[in-house]
Amino acid sequence: MKVLVVGNGGREHALAWKISQSSRVTDVFVAPGNAGTARDAINVDIGVNDIEGLIAFAKKENIGLTVVGPEAPLSIGIVDAFESEKLRVFGPTRQAAQLESSKAFCKNLLRQADVPTADFQVFRDADDAMRFIKGRYPGERDRCPVVVKADGLAAGKGVIVCKRRNDALEAIDRIARRKEFGSAGAQMIIEERLEGQEASVLAITDGKTILPLPPAQDHKPAFDGDTGPNTGGMGAYCPTPMVDDALMAWIEEHVLVPSVHTMKRNRKPFRGVLYAGLMLTPQAGPKVLEYNCRFGDPECQPLLMRLKSDLVDILDAVVDQSLDQIEAPEWDERPVICVVMASKGYPGDYDNGEVISGIDAADELADVKVFHAGTTLDGQDVVTSGGRVLGVTALGDNIAKAKLNAYTAVQQVRWSGSWCRKDIGDKAMQFMEQQAAEM
Ligand code: AMP
Ligand code: GLY
Repeated sequence: MKVLVVGNGGREHALAWKISQSSRVTDVFVAPGNAGTARDAINVDIGVNDIEGLIAFAKKENIGLTVVGPEAPLSIGIVDAFESEKLRVFGPTRQAAQLESSKAFCKNLLRQADVPTADFQVFRDADDAMRFIKGRYPGERDRCPVVVKADGLAAGKGVIVCKRRNDALEAIDRIARRKEFGSAGAQMIIEERLEGQEASVLAITDGKTILPLPPAQDHKPAFDGDTGPNTGGMGAYCPTPMVDDALMAWIEEHVLVPSVHTMKRNRKPFRGVLYAGLMLTPQAGPKVLEYNCRFGDPECQPLLMRLKSDLVDILDAVVDQSLDQIEAPEWDERPVICVVMASKGYPGDYDNGEVISGIDAADELADVKVFHAGTTLDGQDVVTSGGRVLGVTALGDNIAKAKLNAYTAVQQVRWSGSWCRKDIGDKAMQFMEQQAAEM
């Protein structure tokens, strides 16, 4: 079978790498791909939102399965379009993808399904939102700290965590008056700010059966110690000890099952990857911060590095809605750490075209895989072409060893201005030390 992966990031490199290991797969194409997918698969020069172009390619090449990586094409209906052409495709329909493309849709679904989430209100009007923040009655409890969110897709930038009332008023002004996020800000969500550790629990579902994947933890802030501006994710590890088997079972019962069930009941069955961004609150347990409708990036890289079973069997079963019939997948017992190497200036402005050296030396180390994100080929050279450039990913017998392996590999790789966080995985080790001390 021929498989087409849509996307060009680290997630799609990991997908293409894993899919190409399947005995059932003859060719893997990636549209548009990067320098890493050019090596592990075949790149096709079609953009992720060019649905007509992708359909024409899938027909011409007789593609047996298309796997959509990013949210943008899902939110504009790539799955609906493929399905109406009788092409097999992995991912949610446009309506189901609203779980990610509209935060108001997501919050209303969570409320309907009685899934724990931060208290919230939806606003269309800046004045109403500001009145809400200021409190309607004199002496009413200050609503801050709150989080103000633009409803639609805003490349991770439409979420503003506000400590003080003035920050919240400013956030409302940016979203609803200055329209910094364009039409994504047509509605706003104001919600209670939660405290705790964040975890990413991803599950694969065919709309009926749910296959939870091992829990992971992302590192969204740019700099060590979770400081600096938010990014797409500077590194991830899997599994996270913060979500043990008992908590995972709780999350499945109280979060995943009611969400999938309610989507089905609302006649918007969700098929694909349901990614719950969770806050593990010390008092009230896990609460859903958001849903994404696809694999996380970088969470996908450590997840797939640990998967021993054939990914294509799982993806296929989702398309056929027969997930209840496949065997439970096998996972490598060892943890994995993925360290993102970024361009100078990211998440702000950065330059492209820096020549990268040492990728092969890093890749040759045992239990290491370098996934490409923002790279492209310039003749024989691999050069930078994005903010997040590489995801250096390593297995180890424990988190400390996985960290050592990943950072040893990072040291092999060089380009002008490259940087990374130095503390990926430390939160897991601190958590385990704390637990040991409490015993
Ligand atoms: P989201 O895109 O909704 O996941 O938000 C992006 C990031 O903003 C999350 O990973 C959290 O770090 C933070 N965040 C979102 N909602 C809340 C909340 N209610 N309380 C605290 N932090 C939040
Ligand atoms: N790692 C965060 C995301 O994929 O949205």
